Order: sequence, then C-alpha cells, then structure tokens
Amino acid sequence: MEVGSLKIAYAPGKVILFGEHAVVYGQPAIAVPVTQVQARATVEPGSEGQGITIVAEDLEQSYSLEQAPPSDALRAIVVSTLEHIGVGTKHDLAITVSSTIPIARGLGSGAAISTAIVRALSQHFGNLLSPQTISDLVYETEKIYHGTPSGIDNTVIAFEKPVYFVRDQKIKIFSVKRPFLLAIADTGIASPTKIAVSDVRRAWKREREKYEEIFEEIGTIAEMGRRAIERGEIETVGRLMNENHRLLQLIGVSSPELEGLVEAAREGGALGAKLSGAGRGGNIIALVTQETRSRVDLMLRLAGAKDVIITEVS
Ligand code: PMV
Repeated sequence: MEVGSLKIAYAPGKVILFGEHAVVYGQPAIAVPVTQVQARATVEPGSEGQGITIVAEDLEQSYSLEQAPPSDALRAIVVSTLEHIGVGTKHDLAITVSSTIPIARGLGSGAAISTAIVRALSQHFGNLLSPQTISDLVYETEKIYHGTPSGIDNTVIAFEKPVYFVRDQKIKIFSVKRPFLLAIADTGIASPTKIAVSDVRRAWKREREKYEEIFEEIGTIAEMGRRAIERGEIETVGRLMNENHRLLQLIGVSSPELEGLVEAAREGGALGAKLSGAGRGGNIIALVTQETRSRVDLMLRLAGAKDVIITEVS
C-alpha cells in the first residue's frame, strides 16, 4: 500500500496447531496464520541528517538506529534488510512499528513485527523480496528473541499460509479440504519462548531417551494431523490436538492456567484443545464448529481467558 511517499506493510500473527517444541529437534510441525491480529510497519522519509529513527508506538519508544545496541531486534532486522537490498544504512528515514498481536503469547509477535519491517523497507526501496527471502531475514532476528528457534514462526508469517514445517527443509504447503474454526484463548500470562525452550533443552539433556521418544510421538501426531486436514477429517484433528496436549504436559510446558482453559474448551464442546506455542503461559487453541463456537467462547471467558479470537483455517 502506498500513501504519498509513506509505505505501509502488515504481517499476521500465527498459531502452532501441532508439533511445538518437538520441531526444535527436527520433528514436523503445523502452523497457521491468524489474520485477526497483525503487526504494522511504516517507512517514511525523515528530515535531512536525522539518520534512521525507529519508533515503537506500543512501547512509546523512539530511538536512532545508531544508538541502538546490536542486541536490539528492531535494529537487527532493519540493518540486515538494508544490507540484503544492498543500499547500506545511511538514510534519513522514520520506521514506525505497532502491533495488535499480544507479546510473548505464542502468537508470533516478534516475527510479525520483523516481517512487516522487511516488507515496508523493501517497498520503500522498490526491491520486492520473495516470501522465502523475507522468512530467511526474519529468522536471523528470531535468534535474538528465541535463542534456538526452529524457524516455524518466520516461515508461516512470511508465507501467510498453513505450513507443514520441518527444520532446515524447504517449506511444504498443504491443502485444507474442509475449512475449520479455531478458538484462540489467552491466559494473559506472558511467557518468553526462550525460557521454555531452554528448560526443555535442559530436561532433554538429562533424560535424552525419554524426551526423544515423546518428540517422535509428537512428530507422528503432526504427520497424522496433516493427513487428517488434507482429507477433511475434522474430528480426527480434534482428537490429535488432545493427544498432542497430553505429550506437551509430559515435557513440562503446561501450567494451571493453560489446563483450566483446555478443560473449559472441552467442556464447552470443543472437538479438541491444546496449548499452543512455547507454553507455560500464552494461548490455548480449541477446535470449534459454528454450533459450538459461542458456547466454547463463553466457557473460556468464564474460566478466565483474557481474550478469545475465533479464526478460520482454510
Ligand atoms: O513463539 P512460540 O511461543 O509460538 O513458540 C515457538 C514454538 C517452539 O517450538 C516452542 C519454539 C520454536 O522455535 O519452534
């Protein structure tokens, strides 16, 4: 989108349907975009000599690229994008970011903000980048947020399609035979991915065999989940979500709040429910139908959900 010399770009949120954590260890996972929430980035020319200014509206922060430390994730994505495009960092620009994606809730807020920045900068310099290139650039920044990210967030957000993802392999897009609805319910608890992922790594180092067996089971569920989605077997998808949640409990990433929401969704008539993303806090997802969506939504709110989004996977 172009308004005068202002460039505006967006990127959606995402949820992981199957395979979180195990995906870090090479197992397949499935993630889908969530367009009801989004990150936005604008790029506009600044006054002469101002350099590049980054404005993070939600955090009420404004700083110059030059002053920001290399560990600053916004600085990192701006610098790597400009280097990739081949235009260097000497420009007078204001880059403004904002987002309706709650932070640290497994909805991919970091990857979405980075993706929106890459898109807005590439528009500004008239150098449109492919989804794969955007994904690769964002992946580098994800390391700042996550430590050892699998790459699933940047992939699903840059491609904006349901993806079947295996670390270090080319993205596989698959077909959704019968569209289905997911209720996404927020515990309201921020849970940095980096911490959950490093706790799981520590436990895996202690009990390698046990954890690898669980990861393999999760991988099998993701594979079966893909087949069920391709065949339109929605009830099977729900059953597999419940099974995936049980395995996530075993690796220690659930929490009383997540359990409360998963239970409430199932009581409300969801076909399946599980935590989504790194766990400990963040969101659960529940498979609902047109008939059960209102009741599940109500049950989730009564159980303490801070927000409920219903999104269609198609
Ligand atoms: O960003 P989140 O909270 O959706 O978590 C990402 C999923 C993990 O599998 C836990 C980590 C990763 O890098 O894939």
